[in-house]
Amino acid sequence: MKYRFAVIGYGFIGRRHVETLKSFENCDCVAVCDINPERLNEAKMLHPEMEVYDHIDKLTESADINGVVIAANNNQHKELVIKAARAGLNIICEKPAAMSVKDFDEMMAEVEKADVHFTVHQQRRFDKDFQSIKKCYKDGSLGDIYTIKSSLYGYNGNMHDWHVHKVEGGGMLYDWGVHLIDQILYMIDSPLKTVFADVRNVINAEVDDYFNILLRFENGVTAEIELGTYYLSDQPEWFERHWYMSGNAGSMYANKFDPEGKIVRTAKLLENVASDQDKSAKSYGPTRSFGIPEPGLILTEEIPKVGSEHIEFFQNYFANLEGKEELLVKPEQVREVLAVMEACWQSSATWSSVCFN
Ligand SMILES: NC(=O)c1ccc[n+]([C@@H]2O[C@H](COP(=O)([O-])OP(=O)(O)OC[C@H]3O[C@@H](n4cnc5c(N)ncnc54)[C@H](O)[C@@H]3O)[C@@H](O)[C@H]2O)c1
Repeated sequence: MKYRFAVIGYGFIGRRHVETLKSFENCDCVAVCDINPERLNEAKMLHPEMEVYDHIDKLTESADINGVVIAANNNQHKELVIKAARAGLNIICEKPAAMSVKDFDEMMAEVEKADVHFTVHQQRRFDKDFQSIKKCYKDGSLGDIYTIKSSLYGYNGNMHDWHVHKVEGGGMLYDWGVHLIDQILYMIDSPLKTVFADVRNVINAEVDDYFNILLRFENGVTAEIELGTYYLSDQPEWFERHWYMSGNAGSMYANKFDPEGKIVRTAKLLENVASDQDKSAKSYGPTRSFGIPEPGLILTEEIPKVGSEHIEFFQNYFANLEGKEELLVKPEQVREVLAVMEACWQSSATWSSVCFN
């Protein structure tokens, strides 16, 4: 079967979706819908074979399609999903799927009533840095993991266009938080117990541009997620991406999206030293834990390299449509991420932890 898709919202990511859909043999992108006529002109210039529509109602009435990718501003997703579902179309929605759990539940009620396929573009599950961390987390080689830190820092501070407006779904928790939280929940297969967060507007008047989130899981893992858009640095990169993960059999760090890092282990654990011995080591402090390791004590290994690509999100989507694979990004997972985001806002406003399961 050949799938015939339309992209709704021909902006930064919508343009990419057109090219991605067209790259599949069993799919074509035959139409674009955008409320901005300039965007439609751009689409027509690049792809004269595509139909263009300036409203979703015209698209659903006239276009010969069986699916849509919704890539409009965040506050538009709910209405567009509901209209697409009522028209019987399969749906890939951009993240965040909705602005709240309540909106998501209302959307999903329509999706279920219409019995159409629905997923959310959480393609960062295929980021190479995350895949490398996930591989190490799952293979158990670091022993019992107790801490994970995932961080992203940018230096430009300000955001552009609708991203600075709260009502349109602006801010970094909706923009990047949704990916960073999704990665952690997807990797850690254990009930989330508590959420504590500090969500701030450092230099943006309306929307959050910094957050620090602490997620504690039943299996003993604590995951910290920190993002700042005004995290000034003199590094040559325009952003910094870091991971750190530690268990009782080793640690791992990974920097950059195409990760550079190491697995670090110790050849021998520090032995308990009686207080009347080894007086010479006093400069290391009373516990000795922060002393300089003996030569040869620290061993390093290469981190696993995983050649994953974002296109795998779409490959899974089409394989699922054909009944060949389980859907990767499931609605209940999307709902949990939104619930965690709401817990972050609640925790930050009340200065307290929010209990989860
Ligand atoms: N998954 C990812 O990595 C990723 C990356 C970037 C953006 N996104 C998401 O994609 C969506 C779009 O982001 P963007 O950066 O491309 O924004 P953008 O502003 O570049 O494009 C949005 C487009 O949607 C159009 N639009 C707005 N309301 C509409 C409506 N009701 N009907 C039709 N078109 C409408 C706008 O005119 C605009 O052309 C957002 O939800 C964003 O969070 C996801």
